[in-house]
Amino acid sequence: MMNLLMATYLITGIAGFIGSSLARAVLAQGDQVRGIDNLSTGKTENIAEIMGRVDFREADLLEIQAVQSACVGVDYVLHQAAIPSVPKSVLDPLGSNRSNVDATVNLLVAARDAKVKRVVFAASSSAYGDTPTLPKHEDMPPNPISPYAVAKLASEYYMISFYRCYALETVCLRYFNIFGPRQDPTSPYSGVLAKFITQMLKGEQPTIFGDGTQSRDFTYVDNAVEANLLACRAPAGEVAGRVFNVATGQRADLNETFRVLKKLTGYTGEVKYAPERAGDVKHSLADTSRAENYLGYKPKIDFEEGLQRTIEWYRSQENVAGGRPAPDLGVPSRI
Ligand code: UD1
Repeated sequence: MMNLLMATYLITGIAGFIGSSLARAVLAQGDQVRGIDNLSTGKTENIAEIMGRVDFREADLLEIQAVQSACVGVDYVLHQAAIPSVPKSVLDPLGSNRSNVDATVNLLVAARDAKVKRVVFAASSSAYGDTPTLPKHEDMPPNPISPYAVAKLASEYYMISFYRCYALETVCLRYFNIFGPRQDPTSPYSGVLAKFITQMLKGEQPTIFGDGTQSRDFTYVDNAVEANLLACRAPAGEVAGRVFNVATGQRADLNETFRVLKKLTGYTGEVKYAPERAGDVKHSLADTSRAENYLGYKPKIDFEEGLQRTIEWYRSQENVAGGRPAPDLGVPSRI
């Protein structure tokens, strides 16, 4: 019998790395999951073991009717669907805008019309750009560099606008370099940790773009999952129409990250260096106090623990996540 206290969550990008982790967490708390994914970067393998328990719809967020029907009866939307890549957006700004902005506006209209309670959005730390001040606080003026960063920021503004104009409760979570199990290592646009770990486990040489002094607030995926669940529960007066950093408040540069990974993976080779990537941000570090104060967020898994868990997961996958590690091709160097 259906529990009337159960909430229904719509997860966009459910077959992706973060979406599929969210789906597991929502099911684990006893709620219902509906998912939508166009499988452009997501994979059904990521949700294979939970497929029987979710209402999965293969559709694109640009198909308005599919989105409208997906929003019917939904309490919370966790909007993760995106083409999440800085270099890809530099190569294809129109594609980035369609998937990251047009799709978001479609979803917002459908969520508003279906009277969804709240939409939580996967925003990005890239919105801060290359401003010299660290750590990044949400009140700092954004300064996006890449088309991807602009698209994520534009979507944030749409989120805020839908709260102000239509009272649709929206919360933006600015993710800082999320990593963990099921992150796809096989594309040249893959996140650096997914690439490095799978390359090093196979004894293949990773490449650092630039001199390796660039740093990131690398955040294990469970922390982001927790932030989403908290963002659904927090009182509207404290969180609706607002932006929150989701990170650890610590940063590591790529040279030291490579050294830690060497120790954890047993890789014995060296790293190679290639030109810096266009659109790249030099340093990224979050002030997480707003999320702590208003969401009750605390990063539970630190960088090294997250790396250990991630390495363990890739090791447990036959053939290292079922694919070849990403080639170091197709990324434009700084113009
Ligand atoms: C950016 C955003 C992040 C967003 C992500 C989506 C910032 C600070 N972060 O991540 O919030 O979720 O886009 O993709 O803007 N690198 C190498 N070798 C590789 C691959 C990458 O050296 O093989 C370097 C990159 O040049 C970069 C760093 O590693 O300096 C991190 O790159 P990546 O993992 O792609 O993420 P960001 O571009 O930082």
